[in-house]
Amino acid sequence: MAAVLLVASATALLALAAAWLWDYAVVRLLWRPRAVAGMFRAQGVRGPPYSFLRGNNHDIRRMRAEADALRLDVRDHNYLPRVMPHFLTWKQQYGGPFLYWFGAQPRICLLDYESVRQVLFNKSGHFFKTDAHPTILAMLGKGLVLVEGTDWVRHRRVVNPAFAMDKLKMMTTTMVSCAEPLIKEWERLASRNESREVEVEFSKQFQDLTADVISHTGFGSSYKEGKEVFHTQKQLLALAMATLLNVQLPGFKYLPTKNNRLKWMLERKIKTMLMAIIQPRLASNGSGYGDDLLGLMLEACLTTEQGEKRDELTLSMDEIIDECKTFFFAGHETTSHLLTWTMFLLSVYPEWQERLREEAIRECGNANPTADTLNKLKEMTMVLLETLRLYGPVMLMLRKPISDIRLGSLSIPKGNGIAIPIPFLHRDKEVWGDNANDFEPLRFKNGITNAAKTPQALLSFSIGPRSCIGQNFAMLEAKSVMAMILKRFSFTLSSSYVHAPADHITLQPKFGLPIVLRPLDV
Ligand code: HEM
Repeated sequence: MAAVLLVASATALLALAAAWLWDYAVVRLLWRPRAVAGMFRAQGVRGPPYSFLRGNNHDIRRMRAEADALRLDVRDHNYLPRVMPHFLTWKQQYGGPFLYWFGAQPRICLLDYESVRQVLFNKSGHFFKTDAHPTILAMLGKGLVLVEGTDWVRHRRVVNPAFAMDKLKMMTTTMVSCAEPLIKEWERLASRNESREVEVEFSKQFQDLTADVISHTGFGSSYKEGKEVFHTQKQLLALAMATLLNVQLPGFKYLPTKNNRLKWMLERKIKTMLMAIIQPRLASNGSGYGDDLLGLMLEACLTTEQGEKRDELTLSMDEIIDECKTFFFAGHETTSHLLTWTMFLLSVYPEWQERLREEAIRECGNANPTADTLNKLKEMTMVLLETLRLYGPVMLMLRKPISDIRLGSLSIPKGNGIAIPIPFLHRDKEVWGDNANDFEPLRFKNGITNAAKTPQALLSFSIGPRSCIGQNFAMLEAKSVMAMILKRFSFTLSSSYVHAPADHITLQPKFGLPIVLRPLDV
């Protein structure tokens, strides 16, 4: 009897495995890609052919590797052949939109503003973000960047007050005091040299500075512990970079491979460190939770929409941890690259460097910048917006419709990926004019809305309900740091600089940004 039962269970298991294998290997990896490609072909949309399991990941890897040797002139801002050679090739070959394959996931790459606006404004509520890579998920957590639907509404309501302008204005003082010691150090180093100059690698310095700023503004007196969290997140980022284009087999993320074990260990470490910051803060209830981002978030978690006190947190402890991970990571990497590329462009265009210096000295005088003086830096705003247009740190936004949908004349099936390559749209000559590839801050003279033929064409912080919650924070930080540097130093690119923008999830200078600083009073 027992033997019969054993045989029956084994047969049932085998049948289950065969059904799963059939669905996964035959339906999902073979039949569906053919059907999807055929469905798009019938609508006039073409693209590179699908390869079993790998999709076009190996093409992407190969084209990127070939393009890696490309070096650009410092005034050449069209880095698409270096950074997104696969999209450029497919656009030339198939026109837009085109279909490509990220593993077995079909993705439609949109190259026109009309469709992009429809997706990002998401008035029908049909578009969600695509499922994040497991390591990216471990690094960012399921915070505001990745949550959807009613969860997103709940999270956004809790996080919003922390980014209100009056709160950010108070944080400007913290931003300035984080930059001050760095500036003093550069002055000291320059004074030691006979030339009275000093060469600084800005990409690294800005990463440290923005980590410092977000640790202080995010966690107040616990900023040292906050920085530890950062370092651990960076290790997860390195792991994500190394594995991003690997084929994701179902269930693979649960296997105790070397990378998965490392990922789990880092994830646990981050959670423990953040709990150690958050729990004492919650216990300090009576004296308020503090006016840093964490304190403001906890306050909002415990306040009703009518301003009354709640007994229970609106977000669970795990959700608060995930929000901390999110604003830590989203707030640090991106802003540091904005600063880096602004320094780069101001070194290449000394006439703009001088204009911004005059403006900073005129508006701030001898004092350090404040939120009010920063508000008067109009030309600085124009330069930062133009930097974001040409060298915006975020290059790709991904979405998927949650039901079959029409986008203009195109039918897109439920779950199909949608890719929005920002640098391509920012170089669209129909929208930005013939000088779309040039550095021309004056295009923003009359604000973002009037800078291009299409309103809200600047996508660097995205547009619509899911646009960046930290954009005012980032602009204030970039303005205060740039104003302080401009008032104290003149600067040029070091002769060792090599112009090779690179995609490390965000856009970064591959070999860093060495800059020669010369204190102005010398
Ligand atoms: C130059 C700096 C920054 C850039 C270029 C940038 C860019 C973006 C972009 C493009 C998105 C939309 C992503 C998508 O929809 O797929 C986004 C969302 C977001 N950003 Fe930023 N960001 C910057 C700074 C910051 C800062 C300083 C913070 C926080 C301290 C932050 C927090 C967030 C959050 C939480 C979201 C998700 C918002 C939501 O979905 O409701 N970002 N950012």
